[in-house]
Amino acid sequence: MKRFIITANWKLNGNNFLINNFIQNIKNYLSKNIITNTIIFAPPIPYINNIKDQIKNKHFFLGAQNVDTNLFGAFTGEISINMLQDINVQYVIIGHSERRLFHNESNEYIAKKFQIIKSKNMIPILCIGENIQEKSSKKSEIVCQKQLDVILKLSDENIFKNSIIAYEPVWAIGTGKTADIQYICKMHQFIKKYITENSNVHTNEIIIQYGGSVNLSNIQNFLNIDEINGVLLGNSSLNYNQFIKIIEIVNQTYNK
Ligand code: PGA
Repeated sequence: MKRFIITANWKLNGNNFLINNFIQNIKNYLSKNIITNTIIFAPPIPYINNIKDQIKNKHFFLGAQNVDTNLFGAFTGEISINMLQDINVQYVIIGHSERRLFHNESNEYIAKKFQIIKSKNMIPILCIGENIQEKSSKKSEIVCQKQLDVILKLSDENIFKNSIIAYEPVWAIGTGKTADIQYICKMHQFIKKYITENSNVHTNEIIIQYGGSVNLSNIQNFLNIDEINGVLLGNSSLNYNQFIKIIEIVNQTYNK
């Protein structure tokens, strides 16, 4: 049976009412259905404990949308990896294009986050991907390569074991335009090949999700494809009906 990983990134969305509604519906679904794929839920941090206390399922995990590179001290507004570990977060999204763009996060800074997450035996979800200008000038591979290089250089050769990469072309995020499957497969193959050639990690150990406008009407396109090990959902994870239906489709496909 193949393992397919669905990550839900709620970004800066939600409130108590929406989260409680979401929890009730997911709980209900999980109590009646056996899921075998992995679901990682990354809400805004204030809601994590509520979710942790209410949803208990061995395939359901908590994720954070960011982490600081410092462990403690005078860094107002930041959250450390120790704090995330303390509240049972196992996965941390880093390098999202929104953080690269709006918070000027560099490849080097993201690589530090990657190392800190790994040092705690937690799992980074490293987002990489090109923007539209880079795609138009045929620089997609070189952009991804640079985003991976800093991590490969900073760290030991097993660094990409127990890690997730989310290939998210920036032009596909929140736009309703998904990349076509051949293009995604080509990029995923490139990423896998580049990592295997530059580290000690075997192709089968590399997990790559695709992210960018995945929704209920197109989810089927991303399933049963060797190169795609999961999806990272933004908008379509906010609506529990849509999210549950996506989980259901994935479940049915991989349990046949
Ligand atoms: P989207 O977001 O599904 O809304 O395109 C994906 C993401 O930002 O990771």
